[in-house]
Amino acid sequence: MSDTLIHVENISKVYGTGDASTIALANVNLTVKRGSWLAIMGPSGHGKSTLLQIMGGLDRPTAGKINLNGTELTALPPNALARARAKEIGFVFQFFNLLPHLTALENIQMALWFGGMASHAGKARALALLDAVGLTGKADFFPGMLSGGQQQRVAIARALANDPNVLLMDEPSGNLDSASEAELLQLLKRLHAQGKTIVMVTHNAAVATHAQQVVRVKDGRIDEADYAH
Ligand SMILES: Nc1ncnc2c1ncn2[C@@H]1O[C@H](COP(=O)(O)OP(=O)(O)O)[C@@H](O)[C@H]1O
Ligand SMILES: [Mg+2]
Repeated sequence: MSDTLIHVENISKVYGTGDASTIALANVNLTVKRGSWLAIMGPSGHGKSTLLQIMGGLDRPTAGKINLNGTELTALPPNALARARAKEIGFVFQFFNLLPHLTALENIQMALWFGGMASHAGKARALALLDAVGLTGKADFFPGMLSGGQQQRVAIARALANDPNVLLMDEPSGNLDSASEAELLQLLKRLHAQGKTIVMVTHNAAVATHAQQVVRVKDGRIDEADYAH
């Protein structure tokens, strides 16, 4: 098994056409090693979310290739891409993106169902995931009844549902108070120690110190000076 989990090869992304076009990414190359923790930093509007979404197959690049765990995502038709995403990748977003009319348990069961697990098996697994993120007893709570930190932990449990190879997180602590941020960090450290690969966009330099590699995105490019950090 190669120790490269994700290989981003010469990715560009242009939104729109003609005068209205925006070059969000220009010739980005990046390698994520299996089991590593990578932090992506840089100013707002410079392409961090675009890069994360393309790495995870939520969006397609205008040019370039993404290889995830030996599969070229950019060559997959939509159905196969959706399957690869459900199996290989856990996404976590700044605003949690939980479904408000489903309970914590059901939000996780939904992800398991997308990953192909039957609902009776899914319930036990979803409960175990809630335990793992420190939310025992919150299964029947709706997102609106939980604090921001708790909602983010449900989102992480959901992201872990299908035991993905990598967690892709877009400013996961951007909307949390400092106590919840500290708890989130403990959870991420534990997951990383268990071997999970983490790629995290963050504005928080303190959070980034836990990463083994930090890259800076500026004007849609990776600042090469930081790459070997
Ligand atoms: N769906 C979209 N359509 C058009 N422009 C977009 C879209 N998403 C992002 N952009 C533009 O691409 C650039 C990079 O955005 P983004 O990746 O969200 O940056 P960051 O996450 O670093 O704040 C910005 O100029 C943004 O306005
Ligand atoms: Mg962003």
